Amino acid sequence: MRYFLYKENELLCEDIPILELVEEYGTPLYLYSRNQIVENYKSIDSAFGSTDHVTCYALKANSNLHILKLLAEEGAGADVVSAGELFLALKAGFPPEKIAFAGVGKREDEIEYALAQKVFSLNAESHQELQLISRVALRLNTTARVSLRINPDIDAQSHPYITTGLHSNKFGIDSSQALDAFRHALSLPSVEVIGLHTHIGSQITKTEPFIETAKFVVQFLAKLHESGVRISHIDFGGGFGVQYANAIRHEALHVEDHGSGSVTSPAEFVASVLPILQETGCSVWLEPGRSVVADAGILVTKVLYTKENGNKKFVVTDAGMTDLLRPSLYNAHHQIVPVRIETYESEKVDIVGPICETGDFLARDRMLTKVKPNDVLAVLTAGAYGFVNTSHYNARPRPAEILVNGDRVRVIRQRETFEDLV
Ligand code: LLP
Repeated sequence: MRYFLYKENELLCEDIPILELVEEYGTPLYLYSRNQIVENYKSIDSAFGSTDHVTCYALKANSNLHILKLLAEEGAGADVVSAGELFLALKAGFPPEKIAFAGVGKREDEIEYALAQKVFSLNAESHQELQLISRVALRLNTTARVSLRINPDIDAQSHPYITTGLHSNKFGIDSSQALDAFRHALSLPSVEVIGLHTHIGSQITKTEPFIETAKFVVQFLAKLHESGVRISHIDFGGGFGVQYANAIRHEALHVEDHGSGSVTSPAEFVASVLPILQETGCSVWLEPGRSVVADAGILVTKVLYTKENGNKKFVVTDAGMTDLLRPSLYNAHHQIVPVRIETYESEKVDIVGPICETGDFLARDRMLTKVKPNDVLAVLTAGAYGFVNTSHYNARPRPAEILVNGDRVRVIRQRETFEDLV
């Protein structure tokens, strides 16, 4: 996250002191660096070299329209999982021929919308879905381009909630049924079978599960060819992990040992699988979400109170699980740092939100520089799966979102008001 950095103990987003933004826009506040987003996208896309490919940004990570427009302008494709995401992708300017529609439970009206908009591929996940796609395409007098999402039974070695490539997960078609599924798809009217889709999980930090999946894809395609089936397209999914611990270093900040192992860079991930996938001669699509936006965003929150219960110290902030769900849902680690470093003295605290739930925390047993009411904290690496998972629980309006580009600031979503709760 090189666009968030301390200058004289004051945290900046690109060229802007974050405290200035807090004064103007209040807290909780989502803050994004435009240049970090573009740089992240380019580093993934350029890793393909001259290979025929499309880097499809996975909208689910962050679907703010302004961020989408930025990526569409850079030439990215889009991975969508609902009619709503498809609507946003089209509105942002992603061309339909660079859009893949994935998802385990597409409704008939969503399939109809995707076909009417002529998306590049519907990624089907079951026999019944294939039949429905065929029926809808027939009714609309069109041909549905379809890829089959195959579940390869490979462990992504990530959190169980975001592991998707095991047979015990709901996603994709069981690899043992994959050949039959392709035959079935080929027999259906108004369906053109173009490709194979895999996505084994998210926040994957090692190359091995990807390499194993790439090998699976190559072997499976060879089997398909033997049985006379040829496809031209591989959608390899997303899942590249990012570094959450020690995202920013400063001598006042405690060095975190949480998952301290190094995280492979997206370019290294691409380089590890590309030579394998190239053997197939297919075009290769990727669907990165987190690796494009995670380290380009932070959640800024104000300390309301500090207190001690027994021997536990609490820092109560004005952001909680309604603003950033990841710590509560996955016990996820986000580094939390003071926006202005005023002391080098740290203490172990729980950083908790104002929601009436014991599970409402941003961090537990965390070494934090000593803080007092009105101090401002930055929850780092919050650009992915942050704002998109906000809620109105406890009747809390959603935070504002701000995009910084050098010394320029743009409000890309207004802070909600009580009227938005009605
Ligand atoms: N493609 C498909 C089919 C997916 O299901 C996902 C993510 C992606 C691409 C993008 O994966 P990424 O590159 O972002 O890892 N809420 C969780 C993450 C859920 C991921 C769901 N699927 C979290 O906060 O960690």
